[in-house]
Amino acid sequence: MTEASEIRPKKLFIKTYGCQMNVYDSDRMADALAPHGYEPTPVIDDADLVVLNTCHIREKASEKVFSELGRLAELRREGRDFMIGVAGCVAQAEGEEIARRSKAVDMVFGPQSYHRLPELVARVGRGEKVVETEFPPEDKFEHLPAASPRVIRSRGLTAFLTVQEGCDKFCSFCVVPYTRGAEQSRPLEQVLAEARTLVAAGVRELTLLGQNVNAWHGLDAHGRSVGLGELCARLGELEGLARIRYTTSHPLDMTDELIAAHRDNFKLMPYLHLPVQSGSDRILKAMNRRHTRADYLAVIDRIKAARPDMALSGDFIVGFPGETEADFAETLSLVHEVGYASAFTFKYSIRPGTPGADMDDQVPEPVKAERLARLNALVTRQMRDFARSCVGRTLDVLLDKPGRLPGQLGGRSPYLQAVHLEAPEHLLGTVQQVLIVGAGNNSIEGKIVTHAEPKGASVIESQAFA
Ligand code: 5AD
Ligand code: SF4
Repeated sequence: MTEASEIRPKKLFIKTYGCQMNVYDSDRMADALAPHGYEPTPVIDDADLVVLNTCHIREKASEKVFSELGRLAELRREGRDFMIGVAGCVAQAEGEEIARRSKAVDMVFGPQSYHRLPELVARVGRGEKVVETEFPPEDKFEHLPAASPRVIRSRGLTAFLTVQEGCDKFCSFCVVPYTRGAEQSRPLEQVLAEARTLVAAGVRELTLLGQNVNAWHGLDAHGRSVGLGELCARLGELEGLARIRYTTSHPLDMTDELIAAHRDNFKLMPYLHLPVQSGSDRILKAMNRRHTRADYLAVIDRIKAARPDMALSGDFIVGFPGETEADFAETLSLVHEVGYASAFTFKYSIRPGTPGADMDDQVPEPVKAERLARLNALVTRQMRDFARSCVGRTLDVLLDKPGRLPGQLGGRSPYLQAVHLEAPEHLLGTVQQVLIVGAGNNSIEGKIVTHAEPKGASVIESQAFA
């Protein structure tokens, strides 16, 4: 390949399934390919390379991948010429199987190989069918290039930053410890360097990501081991950064240090995603969650003592093997007791290779569906009640996007609610005090009460890139 052909603009289409970690990874794949002439396109028909960034967490997710591959194979049969890659957790778990089942696929590669993507593309260019699912010895983050300020800004004023990958908890329903491997924390300085790059480009809100993010730990400059609370304190020192969030957490890793950070660090938002999965001790034990209902509630009490305005979100699974009506009633009662601002609910899905898959007393599908409907009715009511409870309150809102109509902007409340309001465009990137005047199904409406003009380098820069 000549120099010139290497930098001929090519188009990259990435379809992202699953969680926020995949959203972050898709951007990093785009960053890895950018120096090799690949530009993102939202139009699949324009693409020279299509990557499916897959999720393996529940059954339907991998089925969707195979049907998407079928559609892509059809496009190729119709004469469209593009390369097809499968990345993410399905690729990691079923690499060989995907390569065998889908003739159209050119490369299958796991999350630890994203920095090698240009090399994998070159191998496909030489006629190879690539399957790369080993965990490479080198640190991918050391090798992934940073995005340019312009690209960072084009992705918005809020950004994800993966600080931790993998999980050692082995909940008996979950594939993550197998697909993403053992818990690994990115070094403190590496995370801070990436955060500085993002903030210098205008990012105002960072969400730190990890499958078990609150297990993050690193060494400070004195060689002392520090946890996520200290990382948030260091990030809080970045002047242009207004807000910090983190997700997803395990209740057992809510350390005193992290809880104290919620009291001391005003940039940490009072909104925490803390999955519990079930309200029944019997089921929690079968799930190998390693905590009881009372442990979970005690963690919430400690958090609320540190930060009384903390709002919670959670994940719940209904129909885990052996779950009786009485167990499910315990889940409903836990949801009543906690009162969630938001929640994600799932029917248990058998994941081959996990202990749950071999349990005898699987719950019939219609029972799962019926329990899910009841749980959904409850959490939907709680979400609506929470939104309504915000009406009349004055909340800090980060104005992070253009509004639906001229003269409007969109923002986010501390509780991650979408907020619509009238505001001039130059306030984009600022945090304003907003009186909440209405609550809809998916968003709330507000009016600015105090008018803080933009100040600080990051806001000015963010406008320059807007
Ligand atoms: N079935 C259903 N839901 C699951 N989750 C993880 N594994 C499964 C499974 N096998 C849910 C959990 C987890 C969220 C990311 O996905 O609630 O917190
Ligand atoms: Fe899966 Fe449990 Fe680890 Fe979360 S803590 S990723 S649910 S094994």
